[in-house]
Amino acid sequence: MKGVLLAGGTGSRLYPLTRITNKHLLPIYDRPMIQWSIEALVNAGITEMMLVTGGTHAGEFLRLLGNGHEFGIDRLSYGYQERPGGIAEALGLAERFADGEPVLVMLADNVVERSIRPMVEAFLAEPRGGRILLTPVSEPSHLRHLGVPELDAGGRVVRIIEKPEEPPSSFGVTGIYCYDAGVFDVIKRLVPSGRGELEITDVNNHYVAQGTMGYDILEGFWGDAGESIDAYYAVNDFVRTYGANKA
Ligand code: G1P
Repeated sequence: MKGVLLAGGTGSRLYPLTRITNKHLLPIYDRPMIQWSIEALVNAGITEMMLVTGGTHAGEFLRLLGNGHEFGIDRLSYGYQERPGGIAEALGLAERFADGEPVLVMLADNVVERSIRPMVEAFLAEPRGGRILLTPVSEPSHLRHLGVPELDAGGRVVRIIEKPEEPPSSFGVTGIYCYDAGVFDVIKRLVPSGRGELEITDVNNHYVAQGTMGYDILEGFWGDAGESIDAYYAVNDFVRTYGANKA
């Protein structure tokens, strides 16, 4: 399984910090944000990865990460998204890199307390369709900023609603996804959303409709450090006190 780290976007929710750098290079405790997601993948056994970024600071990633060996990466590729076309469009740039293998995709502003290895192992036991990682979220005000699954009585995902006014459950969809290699054909058939982007939630709803979407529920802390300046500091405080990517 190969890894795809998505580290593009304008980071507008963290302006003005992100006028001078890419969001994923801002510090989380003692290192640039991107390093936490790299560690999450490497700890899950994924050592071949592509980092997709965009904007005006792409060169800084090369300066920080180089060939990736220092961080436990065997082979590090880079992709460049020429315009902010959405998470799914950015993932589409990894098609040739994936070369027919399944992919673990991680939004590089997501930080987890515990290892994502159980999700990877569950997907690889039957590597078909997709698999998402859910996190319990109690506040509706927070859920309104996330993808939220609607679950039926048997606990199956019926659909995922992106940033719902009325959250249909108390789980958020984290930015950590497993897909089979068919995902690249799914992306080619997507139509842009109201905000002109190819949405990862539309990819996920494709697999839900097909009946091939699985999920795990994450244990421990999860944060999206790019969600708001308060979320950014909440993730910083958590990681400084408790660490991240623990077994
Ligand atoms: C994205 C996804 C959303 C998911 C979130 C997790 O939102 O669209 O479904 O819950 O990441 O970090 P964004 O942060 O791009 O608004």
